[in-house]
Amino acid sequence: MYQAKAYSARSAESRLAASTVARRDPNEHDVQIEILFCGVCHSDLHQVRNEWKGVMPTVYPCVPGHEIVGRVSKVGSGVTKFKAGDLAAVGCMVDSDRTCPECQAGLEQFCKNLTLTYNFPDKHLGGVTYGGYSDSLVVDERFALHVPANLNLAGAAPLLCAGITTYSPMRHWGVTKGKKVGVVGLGGLGHMGVKFAHALGAHVVVFTTSPGKKEDAVRLGADEVVVSRNADEMKKQEGSFDFILDAVSADHDIEAYIGMLRRDGNLTLVGAPEKPLSVSAFGLIMGRRSLSGSPIGGIPETQEMLDFCGAHNITSDVEVIPIQKINEAYERLLKSDVKYRFSIDMASLKGE
Ligand SMILES: NC(=O)c1ccc[n+]([C@@H]2O[C@H](COP(=O)([O-])OP(=O)(O)OC[C@H]3O[C@@H](n4cnc5c(N)ncnc54)[C@H](OP(=O)(O)O)[C@@H]3O)[C@@H](O)[C@H]2O)c1
Ligand SMILES: [Zn+2]
Ligand SMILES: [Zn+2]
Repeated sequence: MYQAKAYSARSAESRLAASTVARRDPNEHDVQIEILFCGVCHSDLHQVRNEWKGVMPTVYPCVPGHEIVGRVSKVGSGVTKFKAGDLAAVGCMVDSDRTCPECQAGLEQFCKNLTLTYNFPDKHLGGVTYGGYSDSLVVDERFALHVPANLNLAGAAPLLCAGITTYSPMRHWGVTKGKKVGVVGLGGLGHMGVKFAHALGAHVVVFTTSPGKKEDAVRLGADEVVVSRNADEMKKQEGSFDFILDAVSADHDIEAYIGMLRRDGNLTLVGAPEKPLSVSAFGLIMGRRSLSGSPIGGIPETQEMLDFCGAHNITSDVEVIPIQKINEAYERLLKSDVKYRFSIDMASLKGE
């Protein structure tokens, strides 16, 4: 066991601050990773502030962070996928039972015995797992991924959650050339959704509450941009979409978007607001529309997504921050004031 530097929250009300956490020494199949960059997901904020207390209450101290890119510093004797010096990435999961039908299908995100990267029971040391706002992490090599060499590392980190969470439902629901796809909320997830839908050849429409993001949306790959507070613009889109990805982090009206689907169209929620959303049966019945959700993605698909990003030169648009700016970054996230993901340069933790 050793002590790693980290930023943690002591309670739902406290700011994140420098601390240390215990990490295991690498076992036979583990890799130890020196973390270079960690993206800041809105889920980190929900979790730190215990906004998901009904589903996954936060255990304190909490070290968030599940968009991790770094360099392997040590490997266990049985490790075959990595050697010291390799780049490696870790997303939202660090373990699963590997034996259940979900794991065998490479859909570890649905495993009943999944271990998430933070705030989940730690099988090795007891207590809970600690995430990537830290200088290092130890993980089973099965849950570490290869980062294509051509990608900028600060921009690659957010692919590990924002990337896979938007790529996976688009693949599942058949987003391809000729399909009309909506992306609601141009934040960390939303802007990756736009990049993927565009790269997959779809006609992409962005729905945003922020008129100031219009130009960016087009630069990111949108064919049309609708300001969702404008009722006339919204009305024009009714009944026309094959697929809509909703990546909004706060309470909002999803009925309007269900009404924009064409027959058999699907609205997938990836945004996870604190409070329940309201849906009337008729919006779904008329048009045989469907509403679904989607969590991250499995390990094989996460590697597929990273390779797709390597081939298409896709990374997240990031604002790189030192860890000391994390509390300010959370406040800006709440104001939708990030273009379009904060990525923490973990070198800034060295001086703490
Ligand atoms: N399903 C999963 O596996 C998964 C994975 C990761 C994250 N999440 C969840 O996905 C959500 C988005 O995460 P993120 O990191 O992308 O967050 P984010 O960067 O904060 O983006 C959220 C966007 O939602 C829009 N928005 C915010 N408040 C709104 C409101 N009151 N009404 C309408 N739109 C609003 C804003 O876009 P505009 O300015 O364009 O309106 C904002 O940029 C979070 O709830 C997060 O926990 C889920
Ligand atoms: Zn996330
Ligand atoms: Zn399993």
